[in-house]
Amino acid sequence: MTDLSKSPAVLFENVSFRYTEQSEWVIEDINFSITLGEWVSIVGGNGSGKSTLIKLMNGLLKPSLGRVHVLGENIEMANLLKIRKSVGVVFQNPDEQIVGTTVEEDIAFGLQNLLLQRDEIISRVDRMIKLLQLEEYRNRPVRTLSGGQKQLVAIAGVLAMDPKIIVFDESTSMLDPQSTIHLHSLMSDLHQQGFTVIHVTHHPEDILKADRILVLNQGRLVFEGDVLTLMKQPEILQDAHTLPPFVVRFKESLYRRGIKLSGGCKSEKELAKSIWEYISAM
Ligand SMILES: Nc1ncnc2c1ncn2[C@@H]1O[C@H](COP(=O)(O)OP(=O)(O)OP(=O)(O)O)[C@@H](O)[C@H]1O
Ligand SMILES: [Mg+2]
Repeated sequence: MTDLSKSPAVLFENVSFRYTEQSEWVIEDINFSITLGEWVSIVGGNGSGKSTLIKLMNGLLKPSLGRVHVLGENIEMANLLKIRKSVGVVFQNPDEQIVGTTVEEDIAFGLQNLLLQRDEIISRVDRMIKLLQLEEYRNRPVRTLSGGQKQLVAIAGVLAMDPKIIVFDESTSMLDPQSTIHLHSLMSDLHQQGFTVIHVTHHPEDILKADRILVLNQGRLVFEGDVLTLMKQPEILQDAHTLPPFVVRFKESLYRRGIKLSGGCKSEKELAKSIWEYISAM
């Protein structure tokens, strides 16, 4: 018997996809795997196929060619429910996944479908309301909330299901800076607890925390590797309509002016420390 704990969280084998037989290929012959517990960022310009890739990952879309495996199982109609339980996706637009009338009911909806005991549902809903700081909206109809507030409800609904693999598709796009920081620290916590985190993002800074980055360009996977390797090939990000993180651009800008920092630059803190060391050694 296959030992599922050794299987990749997600495996794409020669996957191609187009929305109709007449339309263009949106995903072209993609191969990659994501290890259990890994934090992977997916970047690429508008229309490069990121959201389509995510929908192939939880069985919302079926590959036109190739195979997608989740935790060692090929996605098929027969195991779709199981796959959706394993892969929780927070979609780009919260309106796509809001189902309940009130915040509380919305978070409970997926749990009721899992046929959990009432006490367990209440306890998970309470935990998520606290975690996402939604206490004051608990009984509000979701449709009366702002875009960012709805996004937090959608995140709570997905996390409540306790999926092993959690995918955030540009989930900070409507959040204010403080809620964004809160969500990032939540992602770090989830990663530390052993969850597999997949983060589709347009923000260059977000890739610094990832174990690995996948870059998509017009439906093709053009890079797969860590941030330091990616930074040595800036043309890849440029071609994919994106940018290196600010700290990297700042360090390079200093370099061009003859200031060679020897320390790391994977965060503002590290960059400040490197600058301080440079100044102290002058
Ligand atoms: N339901 C659909 N029917 C037909 N074509 C679609 C559909 N959804 C997306 N597409 C097309 O597939 C391509 C990839 O779209 P996708 O939404 O995956 O891109 P994306 O990388 O997520 O972009 P963004 O950064 O804007 O969210 C685009 O050309 C888009 O027009
Ligand atoms: Mg998208």
